[in-house]
Amino acid sequence: MDRIRITGGRPLNGTIPISGAKNAALPLMIASLLSDQTLTLSNVPNLADVALLKRILGNHGVDYAVSGKRRGEVVQSGERLALTAAEIVDTTAPYDLVSRMRASFWVIGPLLARMHEARVSLPGGCAIGTRPVDFFLSGLEQLGATIDVDGGYVVASAPGGLAGGRVEFPGISVGATHTIMMAATLAKGETMIENAAREPEVRDLADCLTKMGATIDGAGTDTIRVQGTDRLVAAEHAVLPDRIETGTYAFAVAAAGGEVLLQGARGDLLQKALDVLSQTGAEISQTNDGIRVSRRGTGLAPVDVVTEPFPGFPTDLQAQLMALVTGAGGCSRITETIFENRFMHVSELARLGADIRLDGQTATVHGGTPLKGAQVMATDLRASVSLVIAGLTAEGETWVNRVYHLDRGFEQLEQKLSACGADIERVSG
Ligand code: UD1
Repeated sequence: MDRIRITGGRPLNGTIPISGAKNAALPLMIASLLSDQTLTLSNVPNLADVALLKRILGNHGVDYAVSGKRRGEVVQSGERLALTAAEIVDTTAPYDLVSRMRASFWVIGPLLARMHEARVSLPGGCAIGTRPVDFFLSGLEQLGATIDVDGGYVVASAPGGLAGGRVEFPGISVGATHTIMMAATLAKGETMIENAAREPEVRDLADCLTKMGATIDGAGTDTIRVQGTDRLVAAEHAVLPDRIETGTYAFAVAAAGGEVLLQGARGDLLQKALDVLSQTGAEISQTNDGIRVSRRGTGLAPVDVVTEPFPGFPTDLQAQLMALVTGAGGCSRITETIFENRFMHVSELARLGADIRLDGQTATVHGGTPLKGAQVMATDLRASVSLVIAGLTAEGETWVNRVYHLDRGFEQLEQKLSACGADIERVSG
């Protein structure tokens, strides 16, 4: 199993290109199931989760082709992926594929909308809480589906097709919003989704569906209206930049010191996280090329942060923030409100010498004690990259084990960091 070795203490200086967002690419790829014509996505990140979703979609009958560099491109950024679901040959998404990635459960919306039936295994994914699917199921029922759960599978059917309806989610869910929005595009009549997630990836999906011929208003707000149509058509769409990757490298620069241009990053996608970062003492400026982050000589200040749905501070940056404030002079408080079990990085950061106390959903970080390199274990996608940030600042060698978690969501992590001066390498075996 691959491991990552980091020798800490080097500042980061240079440019890091920001990839397309994993959390946008996945629902966009799933949207290809809605049409018998080709959906061409550009700026698709080369990640293990994207590769797995290609396999899952392929099992439903989706053909995909990856094309090369285009005239005028200096460096090819991300993959250009053409997905064609001319014929859906199988409406079952099996356990061995779906259990590896929660987002693959979202195929239930398009399959049901287009084929009027779907049999999808209950999901798996990162072990960061129970993550139920009740919002999805009640939402699909509001659109006229009949749902049974049988042998670990959700069996959904709507023999006459889905019909528009009013869906009010009891809590905010990104995945349920994506799924119901996709399903509603092929339902008869109007669907109103209330208490919808406002994450930028929802808006990106709505923009793509609109290019495919859907009529959607309000994506990016908490009320989305979708007018159903009979058929969606071919379209091209570029995946928006990854705000979590952006925040991760921004926090890494603040932790290690130095100055880095996050090329292609958009500040409007993570304003709250950038506000928190500037409270710690880092300097941030938005340029035409991206976001520039620097910290030179000044110490880090502690912060008090609560994770919230967008536009609040994202749960997907909570672990990285915790690694950063282990270096702050004083006491920081970080409260997790989205997932109940998202503190698995705490015990690993403690192995590096961090002083963190947990009380329910709040972690109190007594910063300022220098970290020392150690063996640590990646437990989930975002937790694992927090250990990399900690390793960049720790004295001596840090070994991060189980890095397959990182490969699910961070494209060329070691290359991007070592190009800016970090002493980091992947060791195979
Ligand atoms: C997405 C992101 C993930 C991010 C999360 C929250 C992708 C691929 N993943 O995950 O990186 O951490 O949003 O921003 O985009 N819930 C229910 N019932 C449901 C659905 C959700 O109770 O039917 C709860 C969950 O347990 C959780 C909360 O709602 O406590 C938010 O989860 P949700 O927004 O659905 O997360 P994902 O879409 O899986």
